[in-house]
Amino acid sequence: MIAIGSDHGGYGLKQEIIGYLEENDLEYKDYGTYTPDSCDYPVYAKKVAKAILSGECDKGILICGTGIGISITANKFKGIRAALCHDCFSAQATREHNDANIVAMGARVVGPGLAIKIVDTFLNTEFSGDERHINRIRQMEED
Ligand code: RB5
Repeated sequence: MIAIGSDHGGYGLKQEIIGYLEENDLEYKDYGTYTPDSCDYPVYAKKVAKAILSGECDKGILICGTGIGISITANKFKGIRAALCHDCFSAQATREHNDANIVAMGARVVGPGLAIKIVDTFLNTEFSGDERHINRIRQMEED
């Protein structure tokens, strides 16, 4: 199950990505925002982060204007690894190396065509499972 959320800055792109998820029969939960009216990105970052930490969803997609505020907020949660990606190389690498569980994007940075490719890459790339990456991820979670 994929969790998706955005603020007003990411609302239009979120709807485009939902179209891609539906076309590909991918199960998702939309945590809002549900209108283009101005709202606060931390609300949606927290909803998606909590959905992953509770086990309700296994991966997440977060979008705001830049992708920055929404990814910073999500990364405040221990166990969340939200990667801000505006290219497919990063989306692939962050799955393989960081086992990222959220991809974040800025709707004012990337167009829908590239954003969908980034999501597709993120969802279809497995974590490498390499010992060195496991060790580094463990260190991330330590104080
Ligand atoms: C909203 O105007 C904008 O600040 C937000 O979408 C995001 O870019 C914040 O990081």
